[in-house]
Amino acid sequence: MTDFHSHILPGIDDGCKTPEESIKALRMMADYGVERVAATPHFYASHSGETPEEFLARRNAAEELLREAMKDEKDLPEIFCGAEVKYFRGMSGVEDLRKLTYQGTDLLLVEMPFSKWSEKEIEEVLSLNEKLDVIPVLAHIERYFSYQKNLDWIYEFKDEGILMQMNAEYILGTFSSRKAMKLINNHAIDFLGSDTHNLTDRKPNLGPAIARIEKKADDEIMERFLRYEETYVPRG
Ligand SMILES: [Fe+2]
Repeated sequence: MTDFHSHILPGIDDGCKTPEESIKALRMMADYGVERVAATPHFYASHSGETPEEFLARRNAAEELLREAMKDEKDLPEIFCGAEVKYFRGMSGVEDLRKLTYQGTDLLLVEMPFSKWSEKEIEEVLSLNEKLDVIPVLAHIERYFSYQKNLDWIYEFKDEGILMQMNAEYILGTFSSRKAMKLINNHAIDFLGSDTHNLTDRKPNLGPAIARIEKKADDEIMERFLRYEETYVPRG
């Protein structure tokens, strides 16, 4: 199983602070049976003015630090890098964003605004596919629910080729689990992630979420998640 969303790289954003913390988090993931983890640090073009190239230089340095620290560790999940790209106006015109797709794929993880989306914002995201030749994956879609009128947008976006990622926390939540399972059974969710930031309040939790899905969701659902993984992120 692959964890598609994590802030596991040390010292690059508000995620893990040191390689030691990263390794502890990776160890927890491995114990849950997670085989691959996408490292998706935040990319905030609009607040920081950072270019994708500058971001990549920082990401490469953090990745190198972690790989060096992992040298003597055994049986940790395989890491592949991406980015959690915060929505910004004009993003569909920034060619270099292509460089922030999950490595070896056309998938770009996009964090949408935490507000009711305007027509312009929706248009911008829907045009990413055509203009940048990427497949947008919306990060932790459950976090937008309270801002939109209903959930119809999920299916409208999916009709336009956009894929959806849900966080494990929503699947495990006392008040959200039922809603999560309904969306999962409706094939609304394509990828799962822990959005791991640390070892305390935002720790690895994909394992328990998968156990919940296996218990509560329709039989073919886990197979569908695995099929999507293999289709979009083939093992190298
Ligand atoms: Fe995140």
